[in-house]
Amino acid sequence: MIAPTWSVRRVHALDDAQVDQLAGVLIDCVEGGASVSFMHPLSRERAVAFWRRVAQGVAAGERALLVAEDARGLCGTVQLVLDQTENQPHRAELSKMLVHRRARRQGLGAALMRAAEATARECGKTLLVLDTANDEAERLYERLGWARVGVIPDYALLPQGGLCGTTVYYRNLRG
Ligand SMILES: CC(C)(COP(=O)(O)OP(=O)(O)OC[C@H]1O[C@@H](n2cnc3c(N)ncnc32)[C@H](O)[C@@H]1OP(=O)(O)O)[C@@H](O)C(=O)NCCC(=O)NCCS
Repeated sequence: MIAPTWSVRRVHALDDAQVDQLAGVLIDCVEGGASVSFMHPLSRERAVAFWRRVAQGVAAGERALLVAEDARGLCGTVQLVLDQTENQPHRAELSKMLVHRRARRQGLGAALMRAAEATARECGKTLLVLDTANDEAERLYERLGWARVGVIPDYALLPQGGLCGTTVYYRNLRG
């Protein structure tokens, strides 16, 4: 088996270089047509501002952030939104699962998901939820045991325009 050319880790703070590299990952995903909150073209400035807000949430303990790094820098990421209402302390939302196109189809998405699930357990979370508008991501989540709830039609705009539905998933970590 060929060893992966990247590694995955949890980070508790982001420096300027990491913010810039994560902005690059987000811009690449939007350019590639992924429906991940932003319209095309996504400027470097707006992408950097997004990751600075994420870094604040991470520093405040509201989010857990996982990153993947290859020889060229950060190439993938996923977040857990840990800060939930007081009647849902056991739940987290999985968010912004992004792999740069240069690093796709090598198992990195699966590695990020496994790391996110392990982090959720460490944080005392037993129920995870997410939604996605990406067929490849749907296959990934189902391969890893996530349960499909259903589709909400016309949920968001694609980066180049045009409505798309989103598919809701959950994962019970007690099982
Ligand atoms: C969805 C996404 C995260 C998947 O990331 P990834 O790193 O390519 O995921 P994986 O490599 O684990 O799996 C993807 C495919 O590669 C295949 N694969 C994994 N390792 C492989 C290898 N060594 N050789 C060949 N194929 C491989 C998997 O079987 C899977 O195949 P499938 O699409 O036919 O089911 C990525 O496409 C992405 O970032 N998309 C844009 C952003 C987005 O939409 N994110 C989802 C938001 S909810």
